[in-house]
Amino acid sequence: MFQVFAEERIRDVQVSIMSKRTKWDTKGDLDESKNLPIYQHKATLQQAVKDNSFLVVTGETGSGKTTQLPQYLHQAGLWGNGKIGITQPRRVAAITVAQRVSQEMHCSLGREVGYQVRFDDCTTQDTVVKYMTDGCLLREILADPVLSQYSVVILDEAHERSLNTDILLGLLKQTLSSPDKASKGRSVPLKVVVMSATLETDKLSVFLGGCPVFTIPGRTFPVTSKFSCAIGPKDTESSVYVKEVVKVALDVHTSEMAGDILVFLTGQSEIEKACDMLYEKAESIDYRYDVQDRKVEGLLILPLYGSMPTDQQKQIFQPPPPGIRKCVVATNIAATSLTINGIKYIVDSGPVSPCLSASEALQRAGRAGRTSAGKCFRIYSQEFWEKCMPKYTVPEIQRTSLTTVILTLKCLGVHDVIRFPYLDRPEERFIIEALKQLYQCDAIDRRGKVTRLGELMVQFPLPPGLTRALLQAASLGCEDLLLPVAAMLSVENIFIRPGHPEKQKEADKKHRQLGVQAGSCNDFTMLLSVFEKCKASDAPSAWCKDNYIHWRALKSAFSVETQLREILLRQQNVSLDFPMEKFDGNKSELFRRCLCTGYFTNVARRSVGKVFCTMDGHGSMVHIHPSSTLFDQEAQLDWVIFHDLLVTSRIYIRTVCPIRYDWVKDLLPKLHEVDVYELSSVAREEVTDEEVAKWVTKEAAKRQTEGSAEDVF
Ligand code: CDP
Ligand code: MG
Repeated sequence: MFQVFAEERIRDVQVSIMSKRTKWDTKGDLDESKNLPIYQHKATLQQAVKDNSFLVVTGETGSGKTTQLPQYLHQAGLWGNGKIGITQPRRVAAITVAQRVSQEMHCSLGREVGYQVRFDDCTTQDTVVKYMTDGCLLREILADPVLSQYSVVILDEAHERSLNTDILLGLLKQTLSSPDKASKGRSVPLKVVVMSATLETDKLSVFLGGCPVFTIPGRTFPVTSKFSCAIGPKDTESSVYVKEVVKVALDVHTSEMAGDILVFLTGQSEIEKACDMLYEKAESIDYRYDVQDRKVEGLLILPLYGSMPTDQQKQIFQPPPPGIRKCVVATNIAATSLTINGIKYIVDSGPVSPCLSASEALQRAGRAGRTSAGKCFRIYSQEFWEKCMPKYTVPEIQRTSLTTVILTLKCLGVHDVIRFPYLDRPEERFIIEALKQLYQCDAIDRRGKVTRLGELMVQFPLPPGLTRALLQAASLGCEDLLLPVAAMLSVENIFIRPGHPEKQKEADKKHRQLGVQAGSCNDFTMLLSVFEKCKASDAPSAWCKDNYIHWRALKSAFSVETQLREILLRQQNVSLDFPMEKFDGNKSELFRRCLCTGYFTNVARRSVGKVFCTMDGHGSMVHIHPSSTLFDQEAQLDWVIFHDLLVTSRIYIRTVCPIRYDWVKDLLPKLHEVDVYELSSVAREEVTDEEVAKWVTKEAAKRQTEGSAEDVF
């Protein structure tokens, strides 16, 4: 008898087991909804939503908030013919929950119950209960600020503090607090429900003008936690903690009583790696001798991460066949967004996620105590937990680049980005810095208004400079050169550098060879060449192994490239007014000049020896990083652009490309053109044309006294 099922084999397994044991119900128990803690509060909740424009609802994960509340509101039918919209920070959650709810409501998905996520709209005119990502609702609110199609909007998972949910909160607060705006274009006032898994509800209530908080009393069972010292805060190398997590999960499988296991890791590639290792190791288990609990006869290994195909995601919720222990290896999505029944054991990799907080770790542990007492195995020490873990999750708005936040707000028509009601206000100087960068990339103009380019840029999940370069390339019909580069720069480092000195030498040699083959004289073309070579290869994973390239990272780059290409296609006729139209140089020059349009903010010129000086006004002294193909060739270089800086004992520039001064000459003055104080004043108020005219003359005068660009730089 087989004991282990990996993801690819699961389909056969299901078939063979179902024929043997016909009772295996793959749909789960739909009647269970009456047993959920939320059920007893149905009428009270319906009334509370009716009585308040804002309501905060909180309750343990699994209490039924996401699946039940929208149905209750639908049944109450109090709000005319508007839709009920429920936002989720993650697409997987939006899709799987909609599937589940459509089953519970006995309709086919896309009719009364539907979902919409980016690039996938599964709704019809009949759709009343609509699950969607918070990004989708943001786009809708952009077109229709009062959301006239909706009677209720539920912002779910507010505790996750995703950027989009945070912005939605601010926008809805702004709209609903001005009665004129709120009732404009609507017959019935909009109701807003904010749902959160227990944390920070007071803060939310205060933010929303002291609105009521409805707490669904939970029932949970105790979870005991065990710490281990296997992994310290410095063990950030994924191979180390993946190995440890696999070891602990197998220990649980062999020595603990029946009950499913949930393993937390951070990303897709680690999850796949862990599943492969688990599968391999579990195959050698002899169930007659090695396993404590005689009832346990096999292990079903299931990965769970955001970009997984939806039919595979569904399998996560199905109870395993009798005698088989389920082991789900998931990202943080399983901490609160999705509830998997039957979990008794948690293996928490802990320190690996840079933003994991103690409150999240508690949520993770809590997943084990839903139906009976559980156990949580943490592969980090108690000391780490107490001393190093931040208490609460840092909101995305404080983690991501503010340029994205600010540009999104501007595109949404929020002019005053400094006084916008942020749930957690970013520091003003960072907002101004972001405005400056956006101005430099031509995403906003001197008056703080979004340009046509800015409207295109906001759709790309990339730093503004890179987007600028990509759009430039697209406008010249050479996006094929830039798309792979943008994708490669969006994934983790693709070059493997083994620890063993001999292997290291070999890896370096292979990488150098790749550079030579690329005919590449810079790091950007190197990225392009690796991407293209691997894509063209018959056996891409073997090619990667042979060349010391991370296959999984490259695979993500392929997928990112496709996504970026799709966004570009949607924008169709990108035409930017840029002097390079009349270009007649060679391909390498074209490529580098496109890069310059975005990276002129990152220009450096060689001063002496191996030292370069940045042109951003700081004049920092920088060195080319040893990982660059241009390392040790500094003597032949003069002007360069670079992708990023790495600060250690020295400041290094990484991903470097030589350029000619001519190509950036006309762009560089822009770096010194606007005064941050002026930008902050436009951020606060609409400025008149005369005021702008005054500045321009002031700037022109200033520039004359400064002399020509060549003198300045
Ligand atoms: O939102 P909250 O965490 O309060 O609970 P929920 O997501 O509404 O989950 C309620 C119940 O529905 C749980 O027992 C889940 O396991 C179940 N559920 C499911 O079986 N399949 C889904 N796709 C989603 C939820
Ligand atoms: Mg939920």
